[in-house]
Amino acid sequence: MIKKCLFPAAGYGTRFLPATKAIPKEMLPVLTKPLLQYGVEEAVSAGCDTMAIITGRGKRAIEDHFDRSYELEHQIEGTSKETLMTEIRGMISNYTFSYTRQVEMKGLGHAILTGQTLIGNEPFAVILADDLCDNDEKSVLSQMIEVYEKNPECCIVAIEEVPKEETSKYGVISGNEIAENLFKIDDMVEKPEPKDAPSNLAIIGRYILTPEIFEVIKNTKPGKNDEVQITDSLLTLAKEGKVLAYKFDGKRFDCGSVDGFVEATNYFYNKG
Ligand code: UTP
Repeated sequence: MIKKCLFPAAGYGTRFLPATKAIPKEMLPVLTKPLLQYGVEEAVSAGCDTMAIITGRGKRAIEDHFDRSYELEHQIEGTSKETLMTEIRGMISNYTFSYTRQVEMKGLGHAILTGQTLIGNEPFAVILADDLCDNDEKSVLSQMIEVYEKNPECCIVAIEEVPKEETSKYGVISGNEIAENLFKIDDMVEKPEPKDAPSNLAIIGRYILTPEIFEVIKNTKPGKNDEVQITDSLLTLAKEGKVLAYKFDGKRFDCGSVDGFVEATNYFYNKG
């Protein structure tokens, strides 16, 4: 039912400077794989076959990664190293990668709206590749698609309980638990100070959105940091009872921060 996955990847990644001066944050590797490749794997595991990637200036490495590299492939042909490329080659042959550029970085909501041209009029998934998720049994996006299939009139956001003192890093929700781990959202606030946070349930970088969101984003005024916040657009739909928050099963690493990135690296290294 959900075939397209949008990857907003146009942000500046300032927390990783100077590494992100010339390399997109989404291309930073956890072990040998860039963050974005983990995101694509998750989308594929959830049944998506079209990857719609929002890029920006200085992000050309992303397009090159999801393309053939004949000279390199020729160089390692017939050697043991060839197997290191099996996975990425499979992705390139089996799935569609399409791109559009966000010319001005006006926030995540604006980045998602930029993707309308790639998505069209259908429900779609969104993965922020710097939130790296892991669940061997069922990926976080697969879990969310199952929730969406039972509630096709709603947008779904993934949430996680965070320490109260960290609410200012996230969009935070409040709502009624209507089923196990599933909340109907009645309020959401972007990056609240702990004293203003309506709960400790934070939105992480996975969404299922209905195409209705595009019109709503167009009518959303820039909010915190003068950026168009997806949280503000979703709040409009939440007020109509159309946004559910799903407390997912699995691990999540905030690879947009140095601590989270190191934690993810150790976790995947030890996992083998
Ligand atoms: P972040 O809030 O992590 O911002 O964006 P950032 O620029 O990537 O990183 P810092 O805070 O400067 O270190 C969350 C996601 O939204 C995308 C980013 O690429 C990231 O995946 N994004 C954000 C856009 O695509 N466009 C924007 O205008 C803003």
